[in-house]
Amino acid sequence: MERGILGTLGSPLVQVESPRGSVVAAKVESKNPGGSAKDRPAVAMVEAAERSGELGPGDRIVEPTSGNTGIGLSMVAAAKGYDITVVMPASKSPERRRIMEAYGADLELVEGDISDAKERADELTDSEGAVQVRQFENPANPESHYRTTGSEILEAVGDRTVDALVAGIGTGGTITGVGRRLREAFPEIEVVGVEPEGNEVLTGGETGEDAFQGMGPGFVSPNLDRELLDDVEVVGLDAAETACRRLAREEGVLVGQSSGASLVAARRVAERLVEERGVDAEAPTPDNKVGILDDEPPAREPIPEECPLVVTVFWDSGERYMSTGMFD
Ligand SMILES: Cc1ncc(COP(=O)(O)O)c(C=O)c1O
Repeated sequence: MERGILGTLGSPLVQVESPRGSVVAAKVESKNPGGSAKDRPAVAMVEAAERSGELGPGDRIVEPTSGNTGIGLSMVAAAKGYDITVVMPASKSPERRRIMEAYGADLELVEGDISDAKERADELTDSEGAVQVRQFENPANPESHYRTTGSEILEAVGDRTVDALVAGIGTGGTITGVGRRLREAFPEIEVVGVEPEGNEVLTGGETGEDAFQGMGPGFVSPNLDRELLDDVEVVGLDAAETACRRLAREEGVLVGQSSGASLVAARRVAERLVEERGVDAEAPTPDNKVGILDDEPPAREPIPEECPLVVTVFWDSGERYMSTGMFD
């Protein structure tokens, strides 16, 4: 038995349909108690503030967020008994607002993007003496992924080498923390970021508006360790949403836009690695359609060593995107 909901942090690593000769597997982060990867930094940042004495009983947390961090922090605030104000760009999906309100959070919507939300959160921090955990700068954010997401991946793959980590970037906490942990274990691993077409701050392309939720903040986040990145893939919203629809309808995996984008990029990297390694494209590829209700445990044949293993992250559930119409 867990002594409270926060003890249930964690997610499975799941193989998805992969390019021939490769295995692509995703951390299905909707399994976390607040429904996204951001539950991990939410718990870690709040507990770091408690440890430093910055946050204590009766205090209010304030945070600018495009959604999932707000949901994670709202859950943690409810579980630990803090008040919270979440400042959020009005353009982000209404499901997220409703969820935060369900956890008892106060919401403030601002016109503009995440930078405008940051400005307003700073004002509230000064005027109300609230504690801002600052996900873009707080080292507890990448550290939480180093300690939990990264370690869980190592446990899930066992003796197998991970050849590449491919992940979208918002605060950079996920790719930085997981990237650091995996590179310690696998020095040769490729770490590949993903950014949205039309908002390409890392690849020096076009910058401006994009409709991705959670990915591509429009600036380089201090929590992103650019030194870790071997490459950055650019993915458009249409391709990402097409991947989400296919995942839902053909694989039973319901995820949102940044997860779809990460999968598109992960598949590109997997295809490239298959080609670079000269993997026999006719060789049998590990199947991800295994039965689980048989008396015998499902066939878990080891992934052949020559078959590249690419790990990606699915941050949250497609349920958080219904109002965007992407599944209509
Ligand atoms: C849906 C979604 N995708 C991707 C990300 C990016 O994760 P990170 O902030 O760790 O870079 C976030 C972060 O909020 C998110 O909510």
